[in-house]
Amino acid sequence: MASSLSETVLLSLLLFLTLHQACAEMTHLHFYFHVDHVESNSTDYGAISVLDESLREGQDNSSTLIGRGQGLQAEVGKDGSFLTMFNLLFIDEKYNGSTLAIYGRAPLGTTIERPVIGGTGKFRMAKGYSLATPLVFTATQIVYEYNVYVWHIEMKDD
Ligand SMILES: *[C@@H]1O[C@H](CO)[C@@H](O)[C@H](O)[C@H]1NC(C)=O
Ligand SMILES: *[C@@H]1O[C@H](CO)[C@@H](O)[C@H](O)[C@H]1NC(C)=O
Ligand SMILES: *[C@@H]1O[C@H](CO)[C@@H](O)[C@H](O)[C@H]1NC(C)=O
Repeated sequence: MASSLSETVLLSLLLFLTLHQACAEMTHLHFYFHVDHVESNSTDYGAISVLDESLREGQDNSSTLIGRGQGLQAEVGKDGSFLTMFNLLFIDEKYNGSTLAIYGRAPLGTTIERPVIGGTGKFRMAKGYSLATPLVFTATQIVYEYNVYVWHIEMKDD
């Protein structure tokens, strides 16, 4: 039963790829997430905030801007952890206008692993995971190093 179900899923994917002249691809993205204006450091269970931050090629805050991280975070854990849901919007030449949707739990002070649950543009049908490691975490500056691994399809006709 389980194997015939996975065979059906595989056949459907192959049919989709053939019909749409697309191919499946694995992409690894590496960049730095810079929190532009660090808010006050109050931790409040139940607090919800929005974010629109810079994605840059390098750790230095003057390095090339390649996108934005835009979304919501809510402090849902009494342990100070967050539920986050946001889009990575790319504006670099290769992925300009494409997005990845990230949804998941963000504990404090450690590498955060979250699922990539979808994508648009070059990242259609994306599925994968992201790892965010805090590199700088002070009262004035917060920088995370991101490694994102996604399977997605590449359309031949756009
Ligand atoms: C870069 O970071 C430094 C050190 O925190 C800060 O003084 C400076 O204003 C930042 N520059 C930009 C463009 O954000
Ligand atoms: C990205 O797309 C926008 C809108 O189509 C365009 O104005 C911009 O020049 C593009 N940027 C790059 C780096 O290709
Ligand atoms: C937030 O507060 C904690 C404990 O008071 C402190 O260790 C940490 O450095 C602060 N973080 C920021 C970004 O101010």
